[in-house]
Amino acid sequence: MNRLHDPAHYTFASDNYSGVHPRILAALNTANGGSVAAYGDDIYTQTLQHKLCELFGHQARAFPMFNGTGANVTALQALVPRCGAVICAESAHINVDEGVAPEHMGGIKLLSVKTPDGKLTPALVATQMLNQGIVHHPQARLVYISQPTEYGTCYRIDEIQALADYCHQHEMKLYVDGARLANAVVSLNTDVKTMITDTGVDMLNLGGTKNGLLQAECLISLCDEASTVLPYLRKSNAQLSSKMRFISAQFLAWFEQDLWLQLARHSNSQAQRLAQALTSIETITITQPVEANAVFARLPAAARQQLHQHYHFYDWDQTQGEVRWMTSFDTLPEHVDQFIMAIKQACNTL
Ligand SMILES: Cc1ncc(COP(=O)(O)O)c(C=O)c1O
Repeated sequence: MNRLHDPAHYTFASDNYSGVHPRILAALNTANGGSVAAYGDDIYTQTLQHKLCELFGHQARAFPMFNGTGANVTALQALVPRCGAVICAESAHINVDEGVAPEHMGGIKLLSVKTPDGKLTPALVATQMLNQGIVHHPQARLVYISQPTEYGTCYRIDEIQALADYCHQHEMKLYVDGARLANAVVSLNTDVKTMITDTGVDMLNLGGTKNGLLQAECLISLCDEASTVLPYLRKSNAQLSSKMRFISAQFLAWFEQDLWLQLARHSNSQAQRLAQALTSIETITITQPVEANAVFARLPAAARQQLHQHYHFYDWDQTQGEVRWMTSFDTLPEHVDQFIMAIKQACNTL
């Protein structure tokens, strides 16, 4: 097959635009060949289960899956009873970027809350709790947060702890969509046991796809009851991979020498490089704290249009002239510097 794209062309649209890290491709090759048990009964998946117990604690149960939407919906179904609803931020991926999967596949009602920065707090969650115990109203049984959020902001450990405590005091579970969890772990200079297990999170999707893996996510249940139904739910939701060894092998290579954290640290540092350069451009306002690998900024419409001619990126809130620029594990400093030049030209500051 001939290559059909230009690998030198780089955009700041999303970390989903990146390819696969060479060490992950090598791991796929190593895991290839021979006849190996299917559907997760393989040595790579068993080894991954052990590794995740080391990282998250002995109760962690790993469920490798193909994508984030599937993992999210499966998690909600595992944690929410038929009469239950899910509280999430208005900007939550499950609310705005998963079609109607939570509602249609999961049969789940979402109660969304406006937030300034994508982060829920117990006080914001409480605004959706006024009608608990009234049969006519949705009964909240789960809080969904993403770490980092869709705005690239990170929950501090004490903020997750406060949400988990609030949830458990109100018969709710706490689910973390960690599509980019590694970026938050390095941003907060912590580890997953401290951030997830010790705070009392009930379930997590550990996302790999956005950080160098190929269609590899892993739902991690810390809730024994949910762990017993997840094997069946994963199959019913078409997320059970027959050749699971290839998902698991990627995670094993990712954890070797902390590659996952190295890649996330690099990605975050490129977002910082971009954000720092933007502070010197008067017509640009950075609209969210840059805590992971996304930069949100407001800039004039003409500048946005000019940039769009050469770079693909998302206009986040057109009414505000706000855009999202994302870096990734393979963003080079040269890519960032070229982009900064293009932004300066578009803003007439050169
Ligand atoms: C916060 C968040 N959660 C989940 C996902 C995963 O979605 P997908 O189904 O595309 O893998 C994404 C993808 O961009 C995301 O940003």
